[in-house]
Amino acid sequence: MYDLHGETVHFDTEHNRLLLLDQTELPNKTVVLSLSRLEDMVEAIYNLRVRGAPAIGVAAAVGLSVLSNESAAKTPAEFQAEFLKNAAILEKARPTAVNLSWAINEMRKTQSAHAQAPLAVQKAALTARALELHAADIAVCRTIGEYGAALLQNCDAVLTHCNAGRLATVKYGTALAPVYVAKEQGHTMKVYADETRPLLQGARLTAYELCEAGIDVTVLCDNMASYAMQQGLVQAVLVGCDRVAKNGDTANKIGTSGVAILAKYYGIPFYVCAPFSTIDKNTPTGAEIPIEQRDGEELRSLWYETPKIPQNAKTRNPAFDVTDHSLITAFITEKGVLQPSDFEGYA
Ligand code: MRU
Repeated sequence: MYDLHGETVHFDTEHNRLLLLDQTELPNKTVVLSLSRLEDMVEAIYNLRVRGAPAIGVAAAVGLSVLSNESAAKTPAEFQAEFLKNAAILEKARPTAVNLSWAINEMRKTQSAHAQAPLAVQKAALTARALELHAADIAVCRTIGEYGAALLQNCDAVLTHCNAGRLATVKYGTALAPVYVAKEQGHTMKVYADETRPLLQGARLTAYELCEAGIDVTVLCDNMASYAMQQGLVQAVLVGCDRVAKNGDTANKIGTSGVAILAKYYGIPFYVCAPFSTIDKNTPTGAEIPIEQRDGEELRSLWYETPKIPQNAKTRNPAFDVTDHSLITAFITEKGVLQPSDFEGYA
């Protein structure tokens, strides 16, 4: 078995491979993928073998570096054409998480800055940049965890939707980072995890990683969040995000906006944990965020032996929804606990 070094996405520089923990197999099997072909990388991102906005971004950066190192191009022009083609194909694998295009753009900048250099120099620069992005993701998530843990000192339990934990990033996660850091500091919060239909990221992934970390986790069907809030079971909601527009409207896993509306009704703070790589200042509001539409078969038959929706009934399967900025108490970022009006002040 390949060694992920405790990470979800790893760059095996010795063998020039992108290593991924295959999340479609969790929680029952631990399967590590070792990838070097573009089509396998695209398939892994589209089919959610690697998922979660930051993890997808780092996987694409490492993938591009692996592909560049494998390149048989003879001239800088040939190398650049091949690099840009691979970047464009990877970028299309999923549309909503802006971290994917953000990380690919970082790699494009590196390639363009070295475009006249010998190919060995370009390849080394791309490898170094992918490793930097990988390391930065770990550091950023750790800092989000520290700000979040400080904010939630009086919290006994939080509710989360989808999986924005270590499986969604290289290591700590975003929405679950405060829970991990608080635990290290001696404050153990309980977590209520929405199961998150239709792909069950909460039930399969959040519950799995929290159990592994020895954190008390209770899985709720998505339609139980109101009950949990009404009963006073949680004191805050923590979610991740796939893209935050300039005005603070936030795209995250389908169902998040409903949870935010409930939290507002019950007077429970609703925090979005957001690395700056997920804040898209080029998108003015949530209305401009592209929402991924997935195959309705995921609703009809994915987890069942026989389909549970009549064949003649239509399905609709948006993967994300947009939470209005007015429902968000604050953004927990690596630069502090911020409001959208603060975003402009940071690079
Ligand atoms: O479709 P997924 O599983 O990639 O959706 C993931 C989410 O919605 C996460 O909350 C988001 O990407 C943030 S991960 C730190």
